[in-house]
Amino acid sequence: MPRKRKILVTSALPYVNGSPHMGHLVEYLQTDIWVRFQKLRGHDCIYVCASDAHGTPIMLKARELGITPEALTEGYAAEFVNDFRDFGVDFDNYYTTHSPENEALVTEMFKVLSDNGDIFTRTIEQSYDEKEGMFLPDRFVRGTCPFCRAEDQYGDACENCSKTYSPADLINPVSVISGTAPVRRKSEHYFFKLSSYGDRLRRWMSEAELDNNVVAKLEEWFEAGLQDWDISRDAPYFGFRIPGTDDKYFYVWLDAPVGYMASFRHLCERRDDLDFDDYWRPGSAAEVYHFIGKDIMYFHTLFWPAVLAGAGFRTPTSVFVHGFLTVNGQKMSKSRGTFIKARTYLDNLDASFLRYYYAAKLGPTIEDIDLNLEDFIARVNSDLVGKLINIASRCAGFISKRFDGRLANRLPDAALFDEFANASETIAKHYDRREYSKAMRLIMTLADRANRYIDDNKPWLMVKDENKLTDVQLVCTQGLNMFRSLMIYLSPVIPAVADDARAFLSEDGWLWQDASSPLLDATLPDFQPLLTRVEPTQVQRMIEQSQESTPVPQAETNSAMISIDEFMKIDLRIARIEKAEPVEGADKLLALTLDIGDSTRQVFAGIKAAYDAPSLVGKHVVVVANLTPRKMRFGVSEGMVLAAGPGGEDIFLLSPDDGAEPGMRVK
Ligand code: 2FM
Ligand code: ZN
Repeated sequence: MPRKRKILVTSALPYVNGSPHMGHLVEYLQTDIWVRFQKLRGHDCIYVCASDAHGTPIMLKARELGITPEALTEGYAAEFVNDFRDFGVDFDNYYTTHSPENEALVTEMFKVLSDNGDIFTRTIEQSYDEKEGMFLPDRFVRGTCPFCRAEDQYGDACENCSKTYSPADLINPVSVISGTAPVRRKSEHYFFKLSSYGDRLRRWMSEAELDNNVVAKLEEWFEAGLQDWDISRDAPYFGFRIPGTDDKYFYVWLDAPVGYMASFRHLCERRDDLDFDDYWRPGSAAEVYHFIGKDIMYFHTLFWPAVLAGAGFRTPTSVFVHGFLTVNGQKMSKSRGTFIKARTYLDNLDASFLRYYYAAKLGPTIEDIDLNLEDFIARVNSDLVGKLINIASRCAGFISKRFDGRLANRLPDAALFDEFANASETIAKHYDRREYSKAMRLIMTLADRANRYIDDNKPWLMVKDENKLTDVQLVCTQGLNMFRSLMIYLSPVIPAVADDARAFLSEDGWLWQDASSPLLDATLPDFQPLLTRVEPTQVQRMIEQSQESTPVPQAETNSAMISIDEFMKIDLRIARIEKAEPVEGADKLLALTLDIGDSTRQVFAGIKAAYDAPSLVGKHVVVVANLTPRKMRFGVSEGMVLAAGPGGEDIFLLSPDDGAEPGMRVK
């Protein structure tokens, strides 16, 4: 056995403002398989993760829902924790970036970087939403592309012509939060001097055994020149305040990777055998690996190693980058029902199937992987049920019925068993290099070999001949031992099935090397089927349920219905009627001047028959404040006042008086 390694592994910390889905699972399953493999090999391997809880999108979503960001992120974090658990993802610790440990670490790192002259301030100009009183991240500004004139494009890049630009370049920019045109405003920001880390990063790159595609990307970035990194954001922001400031926060991408360390530190508090510095200080003998998706490579291969080195910590041993998931060859899509939540999958299918399927597809490169649902059914049924489990099903019945569950005390074909044992190091090498698809192929080739052995020996015929009963026991012992070795090899991928198989074989625990020595003379309980076939109807149901959770296409929608998103767009406010006057030439209308807190509006309301104008002054009403102004014959109406009743004299203004103040949002 190789020497015992000390390994710390992370998966990217998920943003907790939505539910986990099949795309997320690629990474967590890839990492979990690797960690389980290392543990099975006897190494000290620790797997930590956390929720990424900060940033503008989380703050805004919480605001939209009228809850705190803490409540929002805790709610989604619970979903992640449950779904990960049910998929067999076995973290040693799952924490949150919104933690005291993380705040202490990021603050300490910022201080060291500042003391070393790696932080400087510069005033920059950004888009600012005056109505909301906040600076806008590029993605929160939309407008017409300055290059191809495509409308409704993001502030950083055009989805139509792929050109990149800044929000200031957009034609007719609009804040996606308030719908108003943003202005340009200056503010002082903190920057990290990434530009002085070129040499150190190149050295790190050459030592980190990165995938060729990752190296190529890094070379490209070095070539383009390293830009200093803006690590601060202005209030309002959900994150950690920068010490010594009132209204500046650390950018979420500074404290997110520090969350890896904070989660580990949180684990160290509970585990006497783990020492934080032992893993994180320069000269550490431990290995540190980050599993990530290709979209966040820049953060992990430039900013992160540089920040760590500058702040006096060790750099990662390597960063393992995977590609994106497509479903049936295309981007996941809500309308096609291929945007499948982790929970929807679990409601219909066994987690082991997906774990195996992803393993059968995964390699160490940044290539995308495809979940083809027909192939998924075929592969799982043929490999797991048809080949693997079948070995046990074909042998176990004879052992339990004819031999009281007793295995023979020797193998009839030791050379064949050795073929299985000899594959051990090749399979291990594939796992260690994240060549899971190669490992699965080799394991399935061995499963074919085991089935051929049973076909050739035909225990179901031998059992009819009293003289051959001993041979039946021997052949089935051989078959079950081949099954056992394969189960050990597969246990990082399908741990739940492997646990059941181990329980059937009445063994306490497995280590990798157990696959190389046979189990003999043992007494086994009755065999229970370990997995049953996937039925296409299960997959079909999963797709249908994934479609259900998305808005029904327009044509099928009952026109009386609006979606929650549409409803959330309506800006309902309390207004105080300042003036109410009849409108010359209009029988039914009153012109109302409304105080809506931050401004006044003129609204024409068809309530003249029901209300005497002067009696309305001072009343509170509910107004739709973001209705596009309408030009009427008598002037522009800038909103809509809510009332109930059929009309004419029978119309009643909704008039909330109990403590309501102009400008209050109605929920
Ligand atoms: O891209 C993302 O989903 C980020 N939440 C990943 C953060 S990884 C680490 F840096 F925290
Ligand atoms: Zn364009």
